Amino acid sequence: MTETQIHKGLAGVTVDTTSISKVNPETNSLLYRGYPVQELAANCSFEEVAWLLWHGELPSEAELKGFTTFERSHRALADNVKAAIDLLPITCHPMDVGRTAVSVLGANHPRAEDSSPEANLAKATELFAAFPAVVAYDQRRRRGLAPMGPREDLDYSANFLWMTFGEEAAPEVVDAFKVSMILYAEHSFNASTFAARVITSTLADLHSAVTGAIGALKGPLHGGANEAVMHTFEEIGIRKDEPEEDAAARAKAWMENALAQKNKVMGFGHRVYKNGDSRVPTMKAALDDMIKHYDRPEILGLYSGLETAMDEAKNIKPNLDYPSGPTYHLMGFDTEMFTPLFLASRITGWTAHIMEQTASNSLIRPLSEYDGPEERHLVASSVRK
Ligand code: COA
Repeated sequence: MTETQIHKGLAGVTVDTTSISKVNPETNSLLYRGYPVQELAANCSFEEVAWLLWHGELPSEAELKGFTTFERSHRALADNVKAAIDLLPITCHPMDVGRTAVSVLGANHPRAEDSSPEANLAKATELFAAFPAVVAYDQRRRRGLAPMGPREDLDYSANFLWMTFGEEAAPEVVDAFKVSMILYAEHSFNASTFAARVITSTLADLHSAVTGAIGALKGPLHGGANEAVMHTFEEIGIRKDEPEEDAAARAKAWMENALAQKNKVMGFGHRVYKNGDSRVPTMKAALDDMIKHYDRPEILGLYSGLETAMDEAKNIKPNLDYPSGPTYHLMGFDTEMFTPLFLASRITGWTAHIMEQTASNSLIRPLSEYDGPEERHLVASSVRK
């Protein structure tokens, strides 16, 4: 009998083609529609990158104008979405809020059951436009603050920070935030994107696929890692005004102890990249800008102390969640809001994949190898009368 080969976790299995992004672990590169993500982060707005992911090309000036006008006019949250969020306990995770809000937005949509390319593009754009208000609304409600309405004179990133914090962010903060949004936007067949494609393959609607993807993103082995990084920093202790070297020494000792106990440390390692995540240098530069902007050298000490100790002990490199966690912390987001920020960005990649899957669909339904009991039969004594 030939033995079926099991691909646990689908590791190393190629399940389909995609023209949306290319992850190349050998060259440590990530391309969105052919463009290196670093170039996009340095030169483009998040709106341009969203358009690129959906359409395959960067927008012309006229296309960008039309798109941003549409996006800015779809930022306000529907009353029943606010009401649904208000019904959720403040103790629930913000990812539960995001999941519920997307579900309600789907139910609201007049073309909910229409998965034509035009309807899906409209739904993707509207979801992209509305989701920042979900995060901002939830962050403010958790702080007992009244919600802020969107501002049509600000771009996506500046408006996101405005709605969350109720004041205009400094240009360098807006830029670091934009960089994080671009880096988080797309990453081929990761777990949440694959979940979205699986759901789409049943011909379910776009919002159902995004809702399922949100569930996959929540886990600490995926999107939840950026929060977990901050919990590590908090456990080590963030001491404002501590010299960088002292913070680094404490972080190094913490890491040595964690590894001695064989603990997994979140924010390190990657299923695909084994020599470092291509997105980390760009995000680390944004974190450095924020450390300088907020004058918080102890954060750099914690960051480099952990990184050095992990590198020396196991040669495992940080992933994108490692620099993005402390960046969002410095900007003022609560730790639990970090994964919803990743979610806001990844709506672009997920919906691009949903449209690609729809255009060339085949139901995703793998096989499994049964290893339970052999066929057996009920006997009279085991049947309840
Ligand atoms: N901390 C400590 N050890 C780690 C590690 C981490 N973050 N990531 C990997 N390793 C070790 C494993 O313990 C294992 O060691 P072993 O061979 O001695 O048992 C080896 O490296 C291979 O790890 P494995 O989990 O099998 O690799 P994977 O490709 O299945 O896992 C991740 C990839 C992302 C799931 C894994 O690196 C991880 O759990 N990282 C932390 C979560 C995280 O940051 N996720 C965000 C990803 S963008």
